[in-house]
Amino acid sequence: MEQLSNQIKIRRPDDWHLHLRDGATLSAVLPFTAKVFKRAIVMPNLQPPITSIKAASEYRQRISDSTPRGTDFEPLITAYLTDDFSSKELEKGYVENIFFAAKLYPANVTTNSSSGVTDLSKVDNIFSLMEDIGMPLLIHGEVTDKNIDIFDREAIFIEKYLKPLMHNHPKLRIVLEHITTIQAIDFVEKSGPNIAATITPHHLHINRNDMFRGGLRSDFYCLPVAKRENHRIALRNAATSGKSCFFLGTDSAPHPRYLKESSCSCAGIFNSPFAIESYAEVFDEEGALENLESFSSEFGASFYKLPLNIDSITLARKDHFVTKSYEFLDEHNNKESVVPFHAGEKLRWSVLQDTNF
Ligand code: DOR
Ligand code: ZN
Repeated sequence: MEQLSNQIKIRRPDDWHLHLRDGATLSAVLPFTAKVFKRAIVMPNLQPPITSIKAASEYRQRISDSTPRGTDFEPLITAYLTDDFSSKELEKGYVENIFFAAKLYPANVTTNSSSGVTDLSKVDNIFSLMEDIGMPLLIHGEVTDKNIDIFDREAIFIEKYLKPLMHNHPKLRIVLEHITTIQAIDFVEKSGPNIAATITPHHLHINRNDMFRGGLRSDFYCLPVAKRENHRIALRNAATSGKSCFFLGTDSAPHPRYLKESSCSCAGIFNSPFAIESYAEVFDEEGALENLESFSSEFGASFYKLPLNIDSITLARKDHFVTKSYEFLDEHNNKESVVPFHAGEKLRWSVLQDTNF
């Protein structure tokens, strides 16, 4: 990393947790990621979800077809675990480099998760296989019991499911995705080298009050839902700490405007247009810009045993206002719009366009 007073040059980052969707949305949102990030782990919660090698290869091809010329973005495709996912298919897909990892959605925990796992014991053979072959397990760590308060669902998942899972499969390599609580931070820090966690930009910027500031703001509704301010502060400390168990994963999750504005709004925050700038703002505010590079560009690759990127990006301290909304045409030529995180706000860091990739 090179740091001048108003500029920093960091190794090119990767996004270890991303929703690219499909079709016209894929083409509309992918350029934002591909212009900055070299690689991204792409989530499989499409409709229908990615549950076979065939579906994964075809999706990878569609992503490749939508990748803007002049970028060398590399998508890493994940398998969506279901109760009856075939171990043979999972192993073959992993060995043949089609599936990079497998994603565990407890059934009905979030967007497009109704085909997820209803009972972890049903996929215990899959966990044993993944442990043996070294395939990473990516977890949406929340319980789905509607009687449990939504703000407690992550912490209870850790106690009730994650601890026993790690006890029964001590060699399984796990990423607890988009953590939101002090309990998750403590658990990941204390649980050894086989577990790490991603942290989103939005959970570093907003707390649960932001969803109710002056009215009901569905743009700030995501899952896991933002928690109290003390959790946000702890997440900022964890992300900027320089500890290798915490790394970048945006969880950028675009939903069309009409679905965000619905009386039953979809969970998800679309942050990919200014994700690295959003993180840079937090690291700057915390006086930890020297740790931005390891969080964004090194710890994730090391955990996933991938080479570090060799090129770089440059961020400059330069104010700009975030676009209020992006418009595009859907598959039926209807106008669709997505609103980005920080819409209309001023951000103080900009990516310089003349970087060397
Ligand atoms: O807020 C979220 N949106 N959380 C998730 O877990 C899924 C994601 C989506 O796919 O929209
Ligand atoms: Zn996600």
